[in-house]
Parts: sequence; structure tokens; C-alpha cells
Amino acid sequence: MTTYYSKITGWGMYVPERVLTNHDLAQMVDTSDEWIVTRTGIRERHIAADGEATVSMALKASEKALEVAGITAADLDLIIFASSTPDYLCPPASSLLQDRLGATKAGAMVLVAGCSGFVYGLVTASQFIQTGLYQHILVVGTEKLSWAVDWSDRNTCVLFGDGAGAVIVSRSLEPGGLISARLGSEGAEGDALIVPAIGSIEPLTPEKIERNEHKIRMDGRRIFKFATQVMVDAVVDVVSAAGLTINDIDLIIPHQANERIIDLAVRRLGVDRSKVLINIDRYGNTSAASVPLALCEALDQGRIQPGDRIVMVAFGAGLTYAACLWEWQGAETREEPILVSNWPISETLRERLQQMRVAAWRAQTEARAKLSDATMAVMLPLYTFRKGVKKRLGK
Ligand code: ACO
Repeated sequence: MTTYYSKITGWGMYVPERVLTNHDLAQMVDTSDEWIVTRTGIRERHIAADGEATVSMALKASEKALEVAGITAADLDLIIFASSTPDYLCPPASSLLQDRLGATKAGAMVLVAGCSGFVYGLVTASQFIQTGLYQHILVVGTEKLSWAVDWSDRNTCVLFGDGAGAVIVSRSLEPGGLISARLGSEGAEGDALIVPAIGSIEPLTPEKIERNEHKIRMDGRRIFKFATQVMVDAVVDVVSAAGLTINDIDLIIPHQANERIIDLAVRRLGVDRSKVLINIDRYGNTSAASVPLALCEALDQGRIQPGDRIVMVAFGAGLTYAACLWEWQGAETREEPILVSNWPISETLRERLQQMRVAAWRAQTEARAKLSDATMAVMLPLYTFRKGVKKRLGK
């Protein structure tokens, strides 16, 4: 039986022209550039123009991806559209995009998994490819979060931005592509990020609109704690499932929600920061568009080379999380199998050594995470106490 591999053959991104800086936001709510930069790493974000919506942004990113792949929309077998901010509840954004692209033979579906949606989509697409069923699949992550944000709530409005990122996943005989994946969900934590008033549970009333219940509500601290934990666990899972350690990874592309979340996760993993893509300063949190925007930038900057192993990892509304390990294929087909090592030892012994190496790294990462949790448990009450004293003294 033929073995098929998934291969990213095209990519494209789009962000709206309009830039909203932290200084602009400071004119709208009680915040400052200094607070936003130090607490989140965000300096500016892009905001959709009037008349610009999720599907129109996705269209631009998808057209670029098709062009890079050298195929037309008519070649697409499937469209997977990751988004939580569709143009309409019905019809699905995926079908609107399929029509506007002219993807006449493609099936189309929306994938809603919050900010993890694009990684979920990439893993889903790879299954259709690896079984041999499909040849070309468009996976697109797009959000118009400026529509979903309560612009009077400083806890959330400083975080989000609009944008679109797309890839073409194609069937290939060249080894590589998706190596391992971890998809997860902790539904019990769902109310940490919720739009309470839109949905079938209760009718939307003028009173609810008045209270801005049709906009995003978020418990930032709860998500922060969840995110740092699941990002580390999911990365460890996909890396060790591939029989590798973190040192074998060339680039980590994390969901861009908060630079502090990324920093903490990276420290716990013991990864050199130069191996982590961070672009949150220019885009903010674009939810399902965040990972593909970062991937596109990494590719356009030449930060990904054939043979590189990349980990993409995200978390988001649900609360969901997802990670995948992707090996980047080059243009040429490899005819010779790659030898992991040329030591004159038996294959079994080599495998055992590799398993020991992976187990040692896993234990090291877990210990580092426990230590950093313990440090936070001691420091947080001290910090809160100091803040309380300062408040009472009126400083
Ligand atoms: N400007 C100034 N002050 C602010 C702002 C702001 N924009 N927002 C909150 N504050 C204040 C708070 O009111 C609070 O004041 P108080 O101490 O007087 O009560 C103080 O700053 C500290 O607030 P914290 O919530 O403790 O701030 P923290 O350091 O936790 O940062 C943040 C908040 C940035 C939201 C952080 O918790 C975070 O990033 N959490 C994760 C959020 C996230 O990832 N969400 C999306 C996930 S899903 C998806 O990506 C769609």
C-alpha cells in the first residue's frame, strides 16, 4: 500500500490596513501603552475596515496560498475554515469562501475550536491526505475579533486583533509533514472565555445587548494558568510521541495570546527563545489566525528550511488546546532513508537510548514546571499583599 504524507505547498496571510496602537486604545479606555506592553507584549493590532469581514479576509489569504502552491481553486478537494467570528451563523463561512474562490469541486466545513482551530484543522486535513482520499486541502484560520470585542472593557479590548492565514495541504510521497499531534479540550473551563448572549440557549434581548453580553467575557488569570500548563504538556506529548526531545525541534510556533504566557511555557520547556516565533507585538491575539500568521511570517523570513521540525501549539475558547509536530519537506524528493545516527550499534540499542533520552527530558520538563508553579504560589500572595498595602497607603 502506498504511504502518503501531508505537505504544505502554499501559504498566504492577510491583515487589514488599519492599525490600532496602544496609544490609540489609551484614548478609548483607562489603559496605557506601558501596561499593555509589559503585561502582554502587544504594541499594535490590525482592525478590519467597514465592509471587511471574516470571509473577505480569508479570501485574500487563500488566494495567496493557492498562488504559492501553483494550483487553482478548482483543484481543491476540501476547505477547512477555522473561525469563531463567522460572517453569519448560517450559511457557514466555509461555503461562502468556497463560492467566492470558485472551488467548484471542494467540500467545505467550518471548524470551531477557538484559537486552537487552525492546528485542529491542519491535523484534520492531514488525515484526509494520509488516507489518500484527497489531493489538495485549503486550511484557513481567520477572525474578525474587532466585531466580538467589548470596546469599553479594558480587560479584553487591548488583547485582540483581526487577520487571516491560510495554507494548502497537499498529498505527497515525500516523507515528512504531520509527524504527531495532540488535540485536547477541557469543557469544564468553558466559562473562562464566553460570549454569553449569542446562541440557542436563550433569546438575545435588548437588555442583554445593553449589558454587552453579546461580546467576549474573559477570566484572564484562569486562562493564563490553563495556557501555560497545557502548552507545556501538549508540546512534551507531541515531541516525545515522535521519539524526539526538545533539542531536536528547530522552531516553535505558539498561539500569540500573551508574550508572558509564551515566555513561561518556553522556560519550562527549556527552549532557547531564538527557536520561538513571536509576532504578538504587531498583531495582538488573532485567535484562529494567530498560528497561520506566524507560520507565514516564518516561511517568508526563511526561518523554516527543508528538514526542519516545527511544533505548532495553541489554546483557546473551549477551553481547547492543540499541538502538532510538522517536518518541513524540501522541493527535492529524498530517495535515501535518513540515518538517525551512524554509530555501529544495533537498532534496538539505539531505540532504547533514544527512549531513555526522551524520558530524561520529560522528567526534566516536569520538574521545571513544578518548580515554577511553586515559585508562583509563593510570589503571588506576596505580590497581592504588597499591592494591598500600597493601595491602603494611597501610593
Ligand atoms: N490597562 C490597565 N490596567 C488593566 C488593564 C488594562 N488594559 N486590564 C486589566 N487591568 C488591571 C486590572 O483591573 C487589575 O487591577 P486591580 O489590581 O486594581 O484589580 C490589574 O490590571 C491586574 O490585572 P490582572 O488580571 O491580574 O492582570 P494580568 O497580569 O493577569 O494580565 C491579562 C491580564 C493580560 C488578561 C492576562 O491575564 C492574560 O493574558 N490572560 C490570558 C488571556 C488569554 O490568553 N485570552 C485569550 C485566550 S483564548 C483566545 O486566544 C481567543
